[in-house]
Amino acid sequence: MSKKLFIKTYGCQMNVYDSARMADVLAPLGYTPAEGPEDADMVVLNTCHIREKAEEKVFSELGRLKPLKIEREKAGGRMILAVAGCVAQAEGAEILSRAPFVDLVLGPQTYHRLPEMVARVTRAAGAVLDTEFPAEAKFDFLPETTSSKGVSAFLSIQEGCDKFCTFCVVPYTRGAEFSRPAQSVLAEARRLVAAGVRELTLLGQNVNAYHGASPEGGEWGLGRLIRALAEVPDLARIRYMTSHPLDVDEALISAHREVPQLMPFLHLPVQSGSDRVLEAMNRRHRADDFRRLIERFRAARPDIAFSSDFIVGFPGETDEDFEATMALCREVGFAQAFSFKYSPRPGTPAAGFPRQIAEAVQSERLDRLQELLTSQQRAFNEACIGRELPVLFERRGRHEGQLVGRSPYLQGVHVTAPADGLGRIRQVRIQRVDRNSLGGELVS
Ligand code: SAH
Ligand code: SF4
Ligand code: F3S
Repeated sequence: MSKKLFIKTYGCQMNVYDSARMADVLAPLGYTPAEGPEDADMVVLNTCHIREKAEEKVFSELGRLKPLKIEREKAGGRMILAVAGCVAQAEGAEILSRAPFVDLVLGPQTYHRLPEMVARVTRAAGAVLDTEFPAEAKFDFLPETTSSKGVSAFLSIQEGCDKFCTFCVVPYTRGAEFSRPAQSVLAEARRLVAAGVRELTLLGQNVNAYHGASPEGGEWGLGRLIRALAEVPDLARIRYMTSHPLDVDEALISAHREVPQLMPFLHLPVQSGSDRVLEAMNRRHRADDFRRLIERFRAARPDIAFSSDFIVGFPGETDEDFEATMALCREVGFAQAFSFKYSPRPGTPAAGFPRQIAEAVQSERLDRLQELLTSQQRAFNEACIGRELPVLFERRGRHEGQLVGRSPYLQGVHVTAPADGLGRIRQVRIQRVDRNSLGGELVS
């Protein structure tokens, strides 16, 4: 019997990947994708706990779903409502007390057990809570990827985090670091490529801490894994995220030098340019170490561009500390970046630090930083005008005869091109910068 499934995803790319895998495990039960929650027999909120705002969104969405669920029940039907992801992991039972109409609460480590949980809620009244960190490896129990992937896909290779930055919930919600064996990563990559994927983004909370079992015994780091993936025929592009500066090694840098499929664009969060703040954050490197890493990447791959994450208004951050962040940005020059006000997360050390920064100060600093980062992004995009960039075409554009693809730097590029270009890489001469993307023409 066909049933409809609606999954709403919040947070990082790991959650995007997990949502696709949840759809995969539920497919054998007859679940097919729904357009929206209104016509769904099961709704999953795959949640994020990283900042307070992310968490609030979950409860307001649950408030919107409640009447839908009640309506369905009045009509003699049923809507199974599940909360998955990092809020589920962090809050568990509290979700069931704040929103007792929720049927299922499951953490990121147990979604391979979803069919069994769904069976349990269908059979009996009462909610199911599963936020264990089970001993069995989730990946061994997942079916092979089935959902259609398009041209570009995520592949999760590493999960969890042992870094314990003092502001961050991830080590608590995702648990200890775990790397998938290289063989299973390679097998999934080959399946994805056979299904038409041309670009893979390797995912992990700390993807460059990867140390998976190698096919020859021993372990492979990320650099070695990338070299093996580069041998998969028809895999045109490889990316990875998110990296920690501390785990960058020579093998990874040399992969950037020598593997043409590895894209010259790197998301490398630094959080702050102040050594005092970096230390209080437990990032375990100094601002100068970051500068040196950037230099080494640039020496290996001169056309590389960088993206990063920043937190402003961390407890104890002075004007001088903040200026150090601004100075670091000016020196490095980022092609793109994310920046956030520090948000105290329950249970993390920094939430209890003295000298929390007033909201008004945080806002003022964030505005200044974002202004700088936006101008750097604009300058980077404008510097692409006149360049020829290889573009991987992913979909049709809104206009007749138009295709949309991505540059090596993840910029969206709109081009007039024949439809058989989909899934292919073509050289494009960049002619203009639009609001959020580039425009250009095929180089004949
Ligand atoms: N694993 C990655 C980042 C994961 S979270 C890394 O180590 O860099 C993504 C980003 O959210 C972080 O880089 C950080 O900039 C931001 N973030 C995490 N916790 C936060 C908090 N409590 N307040 C504000 N921003 C936060
Ligand atoms: Fe969070 Fe730090 Fe781990 Fe990144 S490295 S996930 S910021 S604890
Ligand atoms: Fe959010 Fe969890 Fe990702 S807290 S950022 S969904 S790891």
